[in-house]
Amino acid sequence: MSAEGFHCRDIIWTERLDAKPKTRGCAVRVWDTRGLSWEEGAVGHCLCWKSGVYQEYYGLKEPPFDITPNPRFLFYSPKHRDAFNHLMFGIRERKGFVQMTGEVGAGKTTLCRALLEQLDDRFATALILNPLLSPDELMKAIAQEFGLPCNGLDRLDTVAVINQFLLQQFESGRESVLIIDEAQDLTEDLLEQVRLLSNLETDNRKLLQIVLLGQPELRDRLNSHRLRQLRQRITVRYHLMPLSVGEVGQYVNHRLQTSGANGTPSFTTPALWRVHRYSGGIPRLVNAVCDKALLAGFVQGREQIDFGMIGRAIRELEGNIS
Ligand SMILES: Nc1ncnc2c1ncn2[C@@H]1O[C@H](COP(=O)(O)OP(=O)(O)OP(=O)(O)O)[C@@H](O)[C@H]1O
Ligand SMILES: [Mg+2]
Repeated sequence: MSAEGFHCRDIIWTERLDAKPKTRGCAVRVWDTRGLSWEEGAVGHCLCWKSGVYQEYYGLKEPPFDITPNPRFLFYSPKHRDAFNHLMFGIRERKGFVQMTGEVGAGKTTLCRALLEQLDDRFATALILNPLLSPDELMKAIAQEFGLPCNGLDRLDTVAVINQFLLQQFESGRESVLIIDEAQDLTEDLLEQVRLLSNLETDNRKLLQIVLLGQPELRDRLNSHRLRQLRQRITVRYHLMPLSVGEVGQYVNHRLQTSGANGTPSFTTPALWRVHRYSGGIPRLVNAVCDKALLAGFVQGREQIDFGMIGRAIRELEGNIS
């Protein structure tokens, strides 16, 4: 069966057989998820390939537009730099609570990972990535993240173990930081639990710095009347805005360079403009469309990605190409 006979959604992995891809119709092996078998064929326009395929063609060390929050790829746009500085300031100045919000895919988790890398061993850190937990489970998860044994303990005892740890840290001149990602998922009860954890303080400083990261719903949640005690304690806030059109261009080039590109592949200015218009400056969407566009570039044997190829990549992403 020819690869052209597949629908994009049916193909999960392809493996190129040609050493050097031709402009069109290079030979591929296609994993057919319908028949669960390998088929060989010639590819016409299907772009549903793993990025490994074009990576080799463009001579890249790693996929430039992966959607994992890898801090090595972090591009410090002025907004991301500002966000990072706010987080660092809140922690270093022991502000107690720091809040960072941003649209889905704006770069919050990537920043948080970069932050963790920057905090040296004077800081004990606990990172909660998925706070969809019960209050008991949340306290246990925090204790475990700090490396504290809490098996068989109830919530009160677990909190006591955490408090004792925070005091020891303080006495030995170390700082403790709790980061909760996806904090928009915290219920009011859980947020109240977190506030209680922050109550431990000496005369002049908090013993635990708490960073809440979340989508814009977090702001709405914190505006609730019941949470005004917590809201009043948050003294550092930052909302991460999407990238501007110029920043999208710099972002794309930064990611290409980080993955080893040396001038090629490249995106034309109109192509970058279209990427921005489609993505609204949200990095995750930029990645998705650029990834597809590079696949298209590979299929067509092109080193430069133009406006039309971005249009095609967008239609592919939106499922308008079969
Ligand atoms: N400043 C940046 N530099 C490099 N890559 C970035 C940047 N911001 C975001 N990204 C990339 O965009 C993608 C989404 O980022 P991330 O997962 O950090 O977003 P998020 O705000 O945590 O999203 P969500 O709201 O879904 O949790 C990732 O691939 C990430 O590497
Ligand atoms: Mg995230």
